[in-house]
Amino acid sequence: MPIRQVVTDRVAVITLSHPPVNALSIDGGVVAALGETVAAAQADPTVSALVIVGDGRMFCGGADIMDFDRDLAALDTVRDVLNRIEASAKPVVASIHGVALGGGLELALACHYRLAHRDSRLGLPEVSLGLLPGSGGTQRLPRLIDPSTAIELMLSGRRITAAQALEVGLIDAVTEQAPIDAALDFIRTHGPLAPRPIGRLTADGVAAVVEEQRATLRQGLNPAPAHILTCVAAAAGPLDEGLALEARLFAELAGSEASRGLRHAFLGQRLAGRIPGLPAATSAAKIGAAAVIGGGLMGAGIALAVLDADLPVVVVEPNEAARGRAGAKIRDTLARSVQKGRLTEAAAEARLGRLTLAGDISSVADADLIIEAVFEDMDAKRQVFTALDAIARPGAILASNTSTLDLDAVAACTSRPGDVVGLHFFSPANIMKLVEIVRGAKTDPAVLAAALGFVKQIGKVGVVASVCDGFIGNRIFEEYLRQAYFLLEDGALPRQIDNAMEAWGMAMGPLRTMDMAGQDIGWNIRKRRAVEQPDRPYSRIPDLICEMGRFGQKTGSGYYQYPDGRTPVDDPVINQLILDHSAELGIQRRDISDLEIVERCLLAMINEGARIVSEGVAYRPSDVDIIYLNGYGFPAERGGPMFQGDQMGLQTVLTKIRFYQDQRHGWAWEPAALLVDLAESDRRLGALNA
Ligand code: 3HC
Repeated sequence: MPIRQVVTDRVAVITLSHPPVNALSIDGGVVAALGETVAAAQADPTVSALVIVGDGRMFCGGADIMDFDRDLAALDTVRDVLNRIEASAKPVVASIHGVALGGGLELALACHYRLAHRDSRLGLPEVSLGLLPGSGGTQRLPRLIDPSTAIELMLSGRRITAAQALEVGLIDAVTEQAPIDAALDFIRTHGPLAPRPIGRLTADGVAAVVEEQRATLRQGLNPAPAHILTCVAAAAGPLDEGLALEARLFAELAGSEASRGLRHAFLGQRLAGRIPGLPAATSAAKIGAAAVIGGGLMGAGIALAVLDADLPVVVVEPNEAARGRAGAKIRDTLARSVQKGRLTEAAAEARLGRLTLAGDISSVADADLIIEAVFEDMDAKRQVFTALDAIARPGAILASNTSTLDLDAVAACTSRPGDVVGLHFFSPANIMKLVEIVRGAKTDPAVLAAALGFVKQIGKVGVVASVCDGFIGNRIFEEYLRQAYFLLEDGALPRQIDNAMEAWGMAMGPLRTMDMAGQDIGWNIRKRRAVEQPDRPYSRIPDLICEMGRFGQKTGSGYYQYPDGRTPVDDPVINQLILDHSAELGIQRRDISDLEIVERCLLAMINEGARIVSEGVAYRPSDVDIIYLNGYGFPAERGGPMFQGDQMGLQTVLTKIRFYQDQRHGWAWEPAALLVDLAESDRRLGALNA
């Protein structure tokens, strides 16, 4: 039963019991059962007060996100139950532990008294799903606490501690006991309790605050913040009218592309950790001590990420000067965090205390996990792994940070290929959330499970990929760049391409990204590709720019000039180089619309993503999306390239791909067989996520 009830000392204790997060599920029968149980307790003459608690790890994680893809009118049943609780003639106490989020906190807001365990967290995170609190939160929270604080909580979606909740007046007490004991104690010491009607707001009290906030809203892809403010403004009027407006705007948001994209991202991120055939996460070996081989930028960044998770780390860098630089980089980064108030001095000191800098690889002998982060060269990697094979303790996980090289070849130079896995961090590794976890042909399932667990342990998002050149992210990025370069030949200039992609929502346009990452890296890859794939040529434009020694920000110029080292300034020299190159190829340059830029770049990503899924390099389409959302600045509101394919409709995707195939470079547009198959059978990529 999703709801249990026990009557103790004339108090009906109602427990939400719907694992894993006690979501207020309509389909799962939670809401209906809660409504019936509350009604029965209200009618029971032996009951004088009601207590609502959650079973297991938490009070309630909110409404059931799955319900939003179904009939939204059904959500009215949640609202009815909450209204019934609020109108109860008997006092109702919510006793929170773990978390009360979204609909969970709204349930507590409908109760007359709220208690929260000192370790609990409370919040209205709906905005991060492109939604607004749709079960009375926009109306009840600003009536209960200072409206500007209420708005801040709803616009940021952040979670606050029980102590902070008490300070702002959101709860009545911080508790230390188990939720039922805490509630019964509260009733005993404060009783007899009376039902407490929600406070009132005046228009004067809220209009100015709302307008002030509205003026600071940034124009973005997520319409939820503006709708939240509209609802809060209505909180000055009658409650039923405010609730009706809230329900209407909630339904509008739930159907928006932004919310569907953000919900897809939320669920996809959780799905990414699920790989068939792996031992349960709970039985995976926990990493107690880690080591990093290589003290370059990547090695130092990985070490910082490990230290941030309060784990000890040994960094091995044989070159003394480089070792000194790695130590300085780690110390400086921690010091900056202290300066910015993100870290206390004591915490920074503790992290430094867990860092060991060593010159000799034998220092990693006791580590549970060793991450190689040396120069991207097969011989260098082989040397490290041969040495590790001799030194590492039996059962240690040997990970490589390679972004392109064949992990199976690396594993083959050890006597324990089952212990070898790829952990492809993105730079700067202490900041970027994504880690591609590369599963070699011989990687042991237990090792893969432990790698997934480790990535979660350090607060990153792990997505599993099989071995192939470029894995998931960079392989798709190559096709994206290929189109960006051809667009330059066809008639666009760097600024237009970057602006079009950024206006669409990418954090940074493709050419600015390459200028930031360093053009020389791509140049090396293109040289290798020219030998490996002579039938898939690139535009020569980036090579011509590299031949001028312009590698991007690090050399002060690339596609753009960087007079201050960071801000791109259009460069007539490069624009002329592009025009000359088109002329040399005999291309009649034409006006390229922003729509075409976005469409070609996106279709190239969708096509390659589909190929990657059908080859089994990614387990499911949403894994591709999670990589793009967390590692490549793809806007979360757009859900990722695979999600975009479904949004467009795969038949449309295919028609457009074939249209471009009939123009220049048809070979680059060969439609992925999976796309053809799904489009022809009228199916969606999303159907493969389950
Ligand atoms: N609805 C449906 N499923 C949910 C859910 C929800 N609100 N919250 C979590 N889940 C599912 C996850 O998808 C995951 O499923 P899986 O086991 O099948 O992969 C499972 O619960 C466990 O989730 P986590 O792995 O995230 O578990 P954690 O213990 O790490 O975190 C949590 C728990 C803090 C509750 C976290 O899941 C979370 O932040 N959930 C979302 C909270 C939220 O956004 N709530 C608002 C929902 S919208 C709403 O309430 C609208 C209302 O105003 C009408």
